[in-house]
Amino acid sequence: MVWNRVDSNGAAMNRYRNDPGAIRALVRPDEVHRDAYLDPELFELEMEQLWRHTWLYVGHDSQVPEPGDFYSTQLAHEPVIMVRGSDGLVRVLPNRCAHKGTRLVSAVHGKCAGGMLRCPYHGWTYRLDGRLRTVPLKSGYEGTAFEGSNAAQGLREVSSVNYRGFIFARLAADGPDFKDYFGESLTSIDNMVERSPEGRLEVAGGVLRYMHDCNWKLFVENLNDAMHPMVAHESSAGTAKKTWDAVAGSDAAVPMVIEQFVPFVNGYEFFEKMGVKVYANGHSYTGVNFSIHSKYSQVGDYEQRMTGAYGEERARRILGEARHNTVYYPNLTIKGAIQAIRVARPLAVDRTLIESWTFRLVGAPDELLARTTTYSRLINAPTSMVGHDDLHCYRSIQQGLAAGGNEWVSLHRNHSPDEAGGIAGIFGATNEVPMRGQFRAWAEFMTRGMQEG
Ligand code: FES
Ligand SMILES: [Fe+2]
Repeated sequence: MVWNRVDSNGAAMNRYRNDPGAIRALVRPDEVHRDAYLDPELFELEMEQLWRHTWLYVGHDSQVPEPGDFYSTQLAHEPVIMVRGSDGLVRVLPNRCAHKGTRLVSAVHGKCAGGMLRCPYHGWTYRLDGRLRTVPLKSGYEGTAFEGSNAAQGLREVSSVNYRGFIFARLAADGPDFKDYFGESLTSIDNMVERSPEGRLEVAGGVLRYMHDCNWKLFVENLNDAMHPMVAHESSAGTAKKTWDAVAGSDAAVPMVIEQFVPFVNGYEFFEKMGVKVYANGHSYTGVNFSIHSKYSQVGDYEQRMTGAYGEERARRILGEARHNTVYYPNLTIKGAIQAIRVARPLAVDRTLIESWTFRLVGAPDELLARTTTYSRLINAPTSMVGHDDLHCYRSIQQGLAAGGNEWVSLHRNHSPDEAGGIAGIFGATNEVPMRGQFRAWAEFMTRGMQEG
């Protein structure tokens, strides 16, 4: 296969690394080359160039409520710990002992005993801000260069930002500033948080992990692909709709699952009119005007609680936003209106772990959480029906791109030459402009700092 260029000495892995022009040539204004999804060298470059220099979602600060609480995960190829310090601040540290590299914690969640991190191998200890605390039998380092060494620096904190509870990190020391990178797209997180009468979110329960045997970009692109639901989800949501229509009388109360399923098979006009807003750096959201979440029934006394907290006009404005998916390129996608997020964790060029997290709106009635968990089970879980439709298509693309005769993926839909000057603005949501925006960002980061040949 043409993209499988890895040979035993690794020389063949340097085709793109040394040639930014070859990387740029993969992204045309309206097409992308299949190597972007299939080539293992490009995947490794993505991890180094794109994922290390952009802002990645790590976790939510409600996962570590007390000093010493930690959550461990992986960003690109790097193991990290999100830990709350004794000063109350949440930091991101490398999960790597400064001595020989042992991971300091193996558990996903936990509490650091004694308010410190202790390596399970030789027992070096670290303060919760990463500083080296103690080394057993330290006299053995006297007269050596230890004090000036990397090891003596302890754990070097990873740059991170706590944005309204969402912890983002940038692995590389250099890269765009957080606010410059996300810009106005942060309004989707604002709206999700403000849906709590107390302005606070909490992660509810555990996480649904869903292995996808496809390239990570297929998942991220799909979130704002409004041309697929009425086709790909016809077998699941379409069947639910038909079944309900056949058994229910016109005045029957619509169950929550039907409310959530049926909009997936709305027609093209619905999806076109809901609109998509595209920002720089690959971020975008669908549902500018309305979305598949707009017509959900009222739950308990939630609206009254919101009005009490924010006043009538502001509460109406907050709840009137029903954005569909917001993509925080490259690893976070959120659905504020239903309080669910999905996080992409790429493992290989054709293997991606998708995590699905649900949130409780602090101060809202419990029935709202039931609505979120129902949605996650129906749409975003390994057991869901709708999620399987999507995964079938991603997997099928990953396999289908091997076919000869056409090495290019089409992103022509509603392409305009005006995009040459930049991709941002509001469009009909059946436009493929969010994907073109993602690939523009991709090419920029992938070639960032590379020597021109
Ligand atoms: S590897 Fe951690 S103390 Fe030795
Ligand atoms: Fe879908």
